[in-house]
Amino acid sequence: ADLDSLQRRPPVVTIMGHVDHGKTTLLDSIRKTKVAQGEAGGITQHTGAYHVDVEHEGVMQQIVFLDTPGHEAFTAMRARGARVTDIAILVVAADDGVQPQTIEAISHAKAAGVPLVVAVNKMDKEQANPDRVKQELMEHGLVPEEWGGDTVMVPVSAITGNNLDQLLEMIILVSEVEELSANPDRPARGTVIEAHLDKARGSVATLLVQNGTLRVGDTLVVGSVFAKVRAMIDDRGNRVDEAKPSFAVEVLGMNDVPEAGDEFEVFTNEKEARAEADRRKDESRQSRLQQTMA
Ligand code: GTP
Ligand code: NA
Ligand code: MG
Repeated sequence: ADLDSLQRRPPVVTIMGHVDHGKTTLLDSIRKTKVAQGEAGGITQHTGAYHVDVEHEGVMQQIVFLDTPGHEAFTAMRARGARVTDIAILVVAADDGVQPQTIEAISHAKAAGVPLVVAVNKMDKEQANPDRVKQELMEHGLVPEEWGGDTVMVPVSAITGNNLDQLLEMIILVSEVEELSANPDRPARGTVIEAHLDKARGSVATLLVQNGTLRVGDTLVVGSVFAKVRAMIDDRGNRVDEAKPSFAVEVLGMNDVPEAGDEFEVFTNEKEARAEADRRKDESRQSRLQQTMA
C-alpha cells in the first residue's frame, strides 16, 4: 500500500570541496542572493540548506542544496551513519587545483556511493587552468567524460554566473537517473543537518525531511530529544506550515539541542514520543558509561 503513495522527490545535493574554492559563492549565485558576503570572516559556520527552482524542458523542478563548511559537517554526519546526500557537487577552483579537502571529498562521495559532478570554478580568473584540474582529478580516479571517462565536469564561474545553467541541467539529469521517491502521506522522518542554541529562540535545528510530511504541531523524537514543533522557517526566513520530502526547515520547539546526523521521527502519540525520548536518553547514557569504563 505504501508503494502506491510513492512520489518523486527533489534531489538533495551536497556542495563539497576545499576551503575557499567557492562553494558558498556558487550557491549564492545559483540562488541570486548574497549569503557569502554576510558570513563572519567569509567562512561558512553552519550547514545551510537551500531550495532552488529550476526550469527543465518547460517543467519547474526543485533542487535542495546543502552547503558545508569545508565539508566537516558532512564528515561528522557520515561518521554517525547518516545518509542525506543524493548527489555530490565537488567544487574545485581552476586556479588552485586539487587540494587536500578535494581529495577527502572524493573519497567521501565514493564511500557513500553517491554520484559526483565536478564544478571547475573560478574560470573567470586569468590563472584558471581547467586542463590541469582535470589531470589532477584523473590521478584520483575521476576521468572527465570528454576524455573517455564518466565524470561530468562543468567549467563555471560563481562570480560571473557563467555556465551555472549547465551545471543545474547536469544535476537534473543525474537526479532523473536516480529515480528518487518518497511518500508524503505518512508521518515524517529524516535527519538533523545542523543544530544550535539560540539565545532568543532556544534550541534550533535544521531538519531534512526524507520521508513523509512534517507539520507545525507534530510531536517528534530527535535523537534522544523530545520536540513539539512550535514553528518552522524555510531558507528564505519565511514561516511555513509543512515540509515535504527532501525539504529542509529550521524547527523550533525542541526540549534540548540534538546533534547533526541525529535522526528524527514523528510520533502520532505524544506520550509515546516522550517515553521513547526518555528511553533513548537512558540508552545513550548507558553507552557513554560503557565507553568510559572500556
Ligand atoms: P568555505 O566555506 O570557507 O570552505 O569557503 P567556500 O568554498 O564557501 O568559498 P567562498 O564562497 O567563501 O569563496 C571564497 C573566495 O573565493 C571569495 O572571496 C569569493 O568571492 C571567491 N570566489 C568564489 N567563486 C569565485 C569565482 O568564480 N571567481 C572568482 N574570481 N572568485 C570567486
Ligand atoms: Na570561504
Ligand atoms: Mg562556504
